Amino acid sequence: MAASMEVAGSVAVVTGGANGIGRGIVRALLEADATVVVADIELDVLDTTVAALSASFPGRVSGIMADVSDDRSMDSLADQVFTVHGRCNLLYNNAGVGSGGGGRIWTHEPNDWRWCYGVNVFGVANGIMAFVPRMLESGQPGHVVNTSSGDGGFAPVPTAGLYASSKAAVSCITETLDHQLRAESEAMGASVFYPSGGLMDTGLFTSQRNRPTDLERVRGGTGRKSMSFAEMKDRLEQAGRNVTVADLDELGRFVVECTARRQYIIGRDLDDTVGLLHSRADAIGRYEIPPHHQIGL
Ligand SMILES: NC(=O)c1ccc[n+]([C@@H]2O[C@H](COP(=O)([O-])OP(=O)(O)OC[C@H]3O[C@@H](n4cnc5c(N)ncnc54)[C@H](O)[C@@H]3O)[C@@H](O)[C@H]2O)c1
Repeated sequence: MAASMEVAGSVAVVTGGANGIGRGIVRALLEADATVVVADIELDVLDTTVAALSASFPGRVSGIMADVSDDRSMDSLADQVFTVHGRCNLLYNNAGVGSGGGGRIWTHEPNDWRWCYGVNVFGVANGIMAFVPRMLESGQPGHVVNTSSGDGGFAPVPTAGLYASSKAAVSCITETLDHQLRAESEAMGASVFYPSGGLMDTGLFTSQRNRPTDLERVRGGTGRKSMSFAEMKDRLEQAGRNVTVADLDELGRFVVECTARRQYIIGRDLDDTVGLLHSRADAIGRYEIPPHHQIGL
């Protein structure tokens, strides 16, 4: 197993770091004395976030506009990071989008798949291809953390098949990445992050704000709209779920602590998940369809 990862003094890149969960990771990295480059497609929010954090952590946080779904944009991001900082020790491939409300898998349009897979799957792949060769070449200690989701990474929510399948890909990519990095260098590794520990009040519910016009729906969509955070919370409460809202700064600190330990699975409150995974394995052993999260959203 690779040695622990020194966060203090490291250079970190966080994609999708202008908002939500990523912003919590950025703050936690800064608190842990890293220098952070925030990469995001939403320029106004990126500027606001970087300005706000610069006030508390002057000289250690900067922003670069980048589109993770575009390999040239990610190559340019890596060029800028290595030109300015000479290295990248920590890469958080965190940017992600929903699929626009989910729906029956056959009612999605090709553009739904292109956009969601473009950001969630190609985004992670582009980050790996742009950064990992240079991270290895630098000889510096390094670690890659990819943000997956319990929805897909562990089991799909059946109404969210598109999103879930994109996140299953992220989990699979990360597992192979960690095997390969550890075989390559004792100083490198990867982790998969499952945001957990409560409902997250983030921009994921309004992901469509970042959808490019050339990938808009042209066939009228799936008949389902993205829920707002408040609607999602209401639904879960009505279904008798005990809903707590996660503190994103605290979640970010947890992610950074796990990164420092190079813990492969970064997630909290996994007891129910482990139970579900056992039942899934049992069902597979019986040649049956595995049970899922039981969230009828
Ligand atoms: N919110 C949840 O409940 C939840 C649960 C599990 C996993 N996740 C995952 O966590 C990650 C962060 O999501 P979040 O909930 O903080 O949502 P968010 O919308 O608040 O943050 C996502 C960020 O990604 C950026 N982004 C979107 N498209 C981009 C692109 N093409 N290039 C660069 N940046 C882009 C957005 O501008 C935003 O800043 C995502 O990968 C998401 O799938 C979220």
